Amino acid sequence: MENFQFNNPTDIRFGKGHIEPELHDAVAQFGNNVLFVYGGHSIKKSGLYDQVKNLLKDLNIVELGGVAANPKIESVREGQKLAKDNNVDVILAVGGGSVIDASKVISSAKFYDGDPWDLVVNENGADSHKIDEVPIVDILTLSATGTEMNRNAVISNMEINEKIGTTVPNTPAVSFLDPSLTETVPARQTAAGSIDIMSHLTEQYFDCAENNDVSKGLIEGIMQAVIKWAPIAIKDPTNYDARANLMWASTMALNSIVNVSNINEWTVHPLEHELSAYYDITHGIGLGILTPRWMNKVIEDKTTLPLFARLARNVWHLSGDDDLELAKAAIQKTSDWNKSLGAEMTLPEVGIKDETNFEAMAKSAVKEGSLDTDAYIKLTVEDAVEIYRASL
Ligand code: NZQ
Ligand code: ZN
Repeated sequence: MENFQFNNPTDIRFGKGHIEPELHDAVAQFGNNVLFVYGGHSIKKSGLYDQVKNLLKDLNIVELGGVAANPKIESVREGQKLAKDNNVDVILAVGGGSVIDASKVISSAKFYDGDPWDLVVNENGADSHKIDEVPIVDILTLSATGTEMNRNAVISNMEINEKIGTTVPNTPAVSFLDPSLTETVPARQTAAGSIDIMSHLTEQYFDCAENNDVSKGLIEGIMQAVIKWAPIAIKDPTNYDARANLMWASTMALNSIVNVSNINEWTVHPLEHELSAYYDITHGIGLGILTPRWMNKVIEDKTTLPLFARLARNVWHLSGDDDLELAKAAIQKTSDWNKSLGAEMTLPEVGIKDETNFEAMAKSAVKEGSLDTDAYIKLTVEDAVEIYRASL
């Protein structure tokens, strides 16, 4: 195993019954001036918006609503202005990954006088580590990204077709994870979120670090929980245990616990971020389309086969002696599972009908993701184009 340092101070409040008695003090411990960030209509429809306003009625609240899926830099700019003008002490982010990611960059942008896009592009926020940050308290309403317990944020700038992942100085200070709040997430979004969780696990499983059995075992366990509970949540949206397992899986899959000691950078996410940057598609759906095609590409390299065979045996419970056959069967299982959740499985199904932008997307993915130097199996621009083409 490789050396590692692990430090994640997010205060997790998991389950029903935490918000009512605890939200006020969790927010007010940082001050009275609150920027309340949320997305579209979902929290107004569910009653969560009113509940939050009521619980915090003695605090000074300014609101930034309308943060869109694949959050846009325009919302972050708006949030920066509100944070500065109102001298906010704390950001309360209520929503899915998009709302929390936008809030993370706003939290640094309050202390930055330039355009917050600088904080996104400056090599994963390297400069932002030097500036201060407003603490974030969040109430998560969708299980997918793991943003509730990590330092990542992904922001889109559609004017220049860029969707870039950055890191911020701190993980959220307090995250309220009440699985019952995800009961209203529509089936397609539940599928997308579950596929996103599986993708985070897959990206971290396929890594060259040797003998890292603790990480591998954790990933295999979490994958099996997602495989089991996602179909149940889709069929029976108010099944609490299904929603609870997906929520904790989303957090555990991307809070840096399962990748300690890993060596490689990710591959399918940089490829997907280009789909969203050019076509604004749902992140998890894009991952579901690309993952089996990426798997088919990398098993051409025979060094991958023992790990694919391990995945087949330990996660999909397949048996056999031929690693290549097991790898192919595991890829089929992955594809079948995505499809069984009702997710689209080809690019044309999400409106991407030709290869016009593939070359530019492949170049950008290889550059942004260092796919030709740091990936588990290194990919050239031509390889990336091939994966996009295979997805048509
Ligand atoms: O805007 P509202 O009305 O709230 O509707 C949202 C949105 O339309 C809806 N929704 C959320 N909670 C709901 C609900 N609808 C009904 N009931 C609820 N309880 O779901 C839609 C999608 O929301 P969004 O926040 O965009 O989804 P998700 O959590 O999947 O976040 C996706 C974003 O996170 C980035 C993605 O690239 C994408 O931009 N990622 C962030 C990561 C991170 N910070 O670590 C890692 C990921 O790999 C990912 O890249
Ligand atoms: Zn993701």
